[in-house]
Amino acid sequence: MKKNIFKEKKILITGHTGFKGSWLTLWLLLKGAKIIGLSKNINTRPSHFQLLNIKKKIKHYQVDLKNLSKIKKIINNSRPDYIFHLAAQALVKNSYDNPIETWSSNSIGTIHLLEALRKVKKKTFVILITSDKSYKNLELDRGYKEDDLIGGKDPYSASKASAELAIQSYINSFFSHKNNKVFISVARAGNVIGGGDWSENRLVPDCFKKWSKNRFVDIRNPNSTRPWQHVLEALNGYLILAKKMTIRPRNFHGEVFNFGPKNFDNNSVLKVLKKIKSFYPAAKWNIRKNKKFHESNLLKLNSKKAKKKLNWECKLSFSDNIRYVTEWYKSFYDRKQKINICKLSSEQIRQYEKIK
Ligand SMILES: NC(=O)c1ccc[n+]([C@@H]2O[C@H](COP(=O)([O-])OP(=O)(O)OC[C@H]3O[C@@H](n4cnc5c(N)ncnc54)[C@H](O)[C@@H]3O)[C@@H](O)[C@H]2O)c1
Repeated sequence: MKKNIFKEKKILITGHTGFKGSWLTLWLLLKGAKIIGLSKNINTRPSHFQLLNIKKKIKHYQVDLKNLSKIKKIINNSRPDYIFHLAAQALVKNSYDNPIETWSSNSIGTIHLLEALRKVKKKTFVILITSDKSYKNLELDRGYKEDDLIGGKDPYSASKASAELAIQSYINSFFSHKNNKVFISVARAGNVIGGGDWSENRLVPDCFKKWSKNRFVDIRNPNSTRPWQHVLEALNGYLILAKKMTIRPRNFHGEVFNFGPKNFDNNSVLKVLKKIKSFYPAAKWNIRKNKKFHESNLLKLNSKKAKKKLNWECKLSFSDNIRYVTEWYKSFYDRKQKINICKLSSEQIRQYEKIK
């Protein structure tokens, strides 16, 4: 992206304290945007958001999406130019333990945001982040396309698919009149990895937590394949989409985009581990199969639409993706370096931006 359209713009990021949200907040701060962050809590310890030490540089709201009146107030008062909606209960395993929290955050939470937007009279560009898991997983060996069926077996996937139904219904019912100023697109990315994630039951954080204590990590499904991509790849897609929406709002209103690895480049958990080990020899694991809860085996995203309409595609090779991730955690856990996290993450963003 050449021209910086985000400078001085007011940008609301929901889920700004989370893994992806904290990277997006930092990236947009580097671009000179004015950030309004809205999240329920600081959801991990350690937390990338806290380590970045950027709370004073943004307007920070600790608010639950379930609180409609507060969401309305924040949107009315802050009048953002852009909204990136990432807040969600984002973990499949947690969704089995807390289905009501998952449904209310992911589905009702998204509806509350849309409801709050109905009163907005100012031009606002909204990017709603759902998931590759919104697709009804038919275990097909082809990439899922944006117009494939949505659905989900576990509460997380179903709540994201249901949010998508609500989004399309709101667009058709409330954001399609000729004076409409609120432009909405949906972004579906696959599994993202990157430094600064400490969520439970995610491969990369689980591994580095154990390895930092010189322990083995137990691997549930070594042959599961996922569309692994670096967090900056997906965020770059969201930023390009926002830019395109700004230029041609009507062309992108109501559109859905997949953001997945190039050439359906899915790799197994085992391949990811072996690649990490090539950069980080202390990596070690045991295979312990566990079938306690349903996890889909195969999900590929077809991202041709993003390539064609946004000229977006992943820039990092599989190896560079894993190298970025490994270098980040290595720097963090190597205390001797007394690392400045904001500098470390900013440097990765700058490096990434330079890649053609
Ligand atoms: N990480 C991935 O691999 C991945 C893959 C596909 C889609 N996504 C989607 O991307 C988004 C961000 O994912 P992440 O990995 O950064 O998640 P995360 O778990 O790291 O962060 C979640 C964020 O949402 C906030 N939140 C949760 N419930 C809330 C509520 N009720 N009200 C207000 N805030 C609430 C948390 O405070 C936190 O800031 C989510 O919508 C997720 O479903 C993530």
